[in-house]
Amino acid sequence: MRHSASEHPLDPSGYDAELRRHDQVLRRACGVRLHDHVLDIGCGTGQTTRQAARTAQAGSALGVDISAPAIERAREFARSEGLRNVTFDHADAQDHRFPQARFDLAISRFGTMFFDDPVAAFANIRRALRPAGRLVMMVWQPHERNEWAVAIHRSLAGSKGPVAAASAGPDPFSLADPPAVKEILGAAGFADITFTDVHEPVYYGPDVAAALEWVRGFTCTSEVLKRLDPTAAARAVGRLREALAAHLSDDGVWVDSRAWIITARCH
Ligand SMILES: C[S@@+](CC[C@H](N)C(=O)[O-])C[C@H]1O[C@@H](n2cnc3c(N)ncnc32)[C@H](O)[C@@H]1O
Repeated sequence: MRHSASEHPLDPSGYDAELRRHDQVLRRACGVRLHDHVLDIGCGTGQTTRQAARTAQAGSALGVDISAPAIERAREFARSEGLRNVTFDHADAQDHRFPQARFDLAISRFGTMFFDDPVAAFANIRRALRPAGRLVMMVWQPHERNEWAVAIHRSLAGSKGPVAAASAGPDPFSLADPPAVKEILGAAGFADITFTDVHEPVYYGPDVAAALEWVRGFTCTSEVLKRLDPTAAARAVGRLREALAAHLSDDGVWVDSRAWIITARCH
């Protein structure tokens, strides 16, 4: 199973490549320092955790993820890179017992949108932060502002309308609305909450065939295709191929996206 914006990406070459433009922006916003102790929430296979560890050479980085296979991969990468100040825990960040007041900075790249109880989860993260601690996370803006999501949804829905494309499960757009997020983070003990618009495209692959294979691996896509009869599924895949072809440029398939970088300080 692969990334769907709600699933853990186990193929880091694909997912890290998809988000390479976003990653640069997030790194700048995180501003990890030499002595920082960094907590990476929903770290997946750990690219952002390893990056933080490389900068926080006199500090540390801990990545947590609810997916055991993702954490296994993250550990393998850290071992193969010889990083000594990075660890990974297989844990649900919502209620994991983190050491209290341990971290200077909590970061996340699209790993905080899936909590059952976001106030409880962010309060738990807040307790793990030092009094002057910061939170910096990247989340998706609303579905309709994300061309990748709209294109996939439209291709899958086709003439059957939105019902056929309705995907169940965690909502990758759950932190898209600034007033709602301010309420959640405020209730969890954060203040000075800011939102920065990140307008960068996602990368789906060097050509249309690779992009189609990547997008078919998203859970939101594969679940819908499974529900359709074979003829309808073939048509939906054809529409998806066309939609991706429309985004092919000299350096591959890039589709527009909108994210927020949300920052907050402990209250
Ligand atoms: C879209 S992926 C992002 C992964 C990673 N941050 C990256 O950018 O490569 C979302 C991740 O959040 C993790 N996740 C979802 N709910 C979680 C929870 N309650 N606690 C910890 N991790 C969670 C998923 O397993 C998944 O790996």
